[in-house]
Amino acid sequence: MKGLILSGGRGTRLRPITYTSAKQLVPVANKPILFYGIESLAACGIREIGVVVGDTHQEIRDAVGDGSRFGVRVTYLQQEAPLGLAHAVLISEDFLGAEPFVMYLGDNLVNDPLRPMVERFTADAPSAQIFLAHVTHPEQFGVAELGPGDRVVHLIEKPEKPPSDLALVGVYMFSSAVFDAVKAIRPSARGELEITDAIQWLIDQGRTVRPYVISGWWKDTGKLEDMLEANRIILDTFQRRVDGVVQNAEIVGKVVIEPGAKIVDSTIRGPAIIGRGATIEQAYIGPFTSIGDGVVIRGSEIEHSIVLEGSSVCDVGSRIESSLIGRNVTIYRSGTRPKSYKLMIGDRSDVGLV
Ligand code: G1P
Repeated sequence: MKGLILSGGRGTRLRPITYTSAKQLVPVANKPILFYGIESLAACGIREIGVVVGDTHQEIRDAVGDGSRFGVRVTYLQQEAPLGLAHAVLISEDFLGAEPFVMYLGDNLVNDPLRPMVERFTADAPSAQIFLAHVTHPEQFGVAELGPGDRVVHLIEKPEKPPSDLALVGVYMFSSAVFDAVKAIRPSARGELEITDAIQWLIDQGRTVRPYVISGWWKDTGKLEDMLEANRIILDTFQRRVDGVVQNAEIVGKVVIEPGAKIVDSTIRGPAIIGRGATIEQAYIGPFTSIGDGVVIRGSEIEHSIVLEGSSVCDVGSRIESSLIGRNVTIYRSGTRPKSYKLMIGDRSDVGLV
């Protein structure tokens, strides 16, 4: 069994962060989203992983390398344009060959371990096994309709009137029959070769497509709210660990403080993580917050947020909440007159003032 992780795409819903960073490398609980997917494939015994990359290929290559740090061998597969998930499968045929494979969308986080799913797929040997989850807004996803005999009978991508509340989760298992499907289908209205259409083609050809409804949480982290939610869920699974220096500070609950971090005259209320070399001084870090490596938070309060490496937040008057702050950002109180906001903000930034 091989693995295929899709790590192309432009991440338009996470701009401006994705102007300078691949969306799959945005960290959740201080670890790039993509790494969770690779680890999850490695944990079920997969050793050969193809990573489909697009414009952000260099950054992904720099972060993932040859895969040895995850105990796997990574092959990069270049997709010249984001032409859809089925297109990504199409260009990966030589790498995948005749072996069955797990396809994992690099911006998805799935909590359930994959091993039982792989075992069922291997035992049953259907043409495809798809993962489904009950969701409140199925119209935002691919949606499945199940029929008798544990089969999928109909799939539709982002329907106006969803036939069920079962959304396609970003993990799929395929036999090599999928290559016939991705070659047979035509681009959708959004100009992409949809994997949903390819699976429907398999169904139409009388092939078996099995559903597997997952029980744990799952997140497609394409949007800010989903990133924050994923951050919240993952931080909540952490065990307390304090490896940094703590002076005159109150550290409450599940808090991870990495080596080299310094917490002085502050309160940290977990679940939270403070990255290596970060400085927290006269500050409050509230629940569900990930503070990246080398970040400085001084004289400020922040919670339910993600701050990426190298940024600083100093002497901000109000509490910062539900925010994603990029790399090397500086937010500070300027003492100069006239008293005014002085901003240098990238395109498509989103700033909420009180
Ligand atoms: C893709 C799939 C969709 C699936 C979703 C899961 O959507 O097309 O069927 O439900 O991933 O994250 P996209 O992120 O391309 O809009």
